[in-house]
Amino acid sequence: MTLSNRRIATILVHQGQDRDPATGASTVPIYQASTYHHPGGKGQEFDYARSGNPSRKQVEEAIALLEGGVRGFAFASGMAAIGSALSLLEAGDHLIAPDDLYGGSYRYLTMQLPRQGIEVSLVDQSDPAQVAAAICPTTRALFLETPSNPLFKITDLRAMVELAREYRLLTLLDNTFMTPLLQRPLDLGIDVTIHSATKFRWPQ
Ligand SMILES: Cc1ncc(COP(=O)(O)O)c(C=O)c1O
Repeated sequence: MTLSNRRIATILVHQGQDRDPATGASTVPIYQASTYHHPGGKGQEFDYARSGNPSRKQVEEAIALLEGGVRGFAFASGMAAIGSALSLLEAGDHLIAPDDLYGGSYRYLTMQLPRQGIEVSLVDQSDPAQVAAAICPTTRALFLETPSNPLFKITDLRAMVELAREYRLLTLLDNTFMTPLLQRPLDLGIDVTIHSATKFRWPQ
């Protein structure tokens, strides 16, 4: 086991916060409260469950640590995370995405985003020249998925980051298949990494 493996293993066991700060319990429990008291009329860190919850905070800190990111955000599903990340785009923006990608993402990108005025080009991202050729003045972001689902096409993330820096594009990557144990997009310069965590996958 290498040092970096050991760090990841330690993070997996202890995560950001390995005990419940409120009680000292050795795992953070599932808090089910929807509203929180405001002692002396003053709001505390947690106010209402949709905006924050101690159990969700722990998951968000753990994924940020594992990916080497600055912040993590947990959603009810992978598609909710993808939709929220893509809400960084605005009407008039152009997005370049892979021609092979998870079916739910394909439908969201080809049916929902155009209704919001966002143009989407699907290209074979395993060929950086095709990505470069698709960039136009309104291109705002690259949406990436490698390996792609279902064809397992591989995209050169360093080449994508190079293009993104040259054309000042945001890069968003679906890292569901690899997990931060096997692929570390943020270390390579990707801006946002996303996972579906609704099923268990054992990294091979
Ligand atoms: C690569 C990939 N991205 C996104 C999703 C969507 O995740 P969810 O089903 O949690 O919405 C899936 C689902 O299998 C997936 O395989």
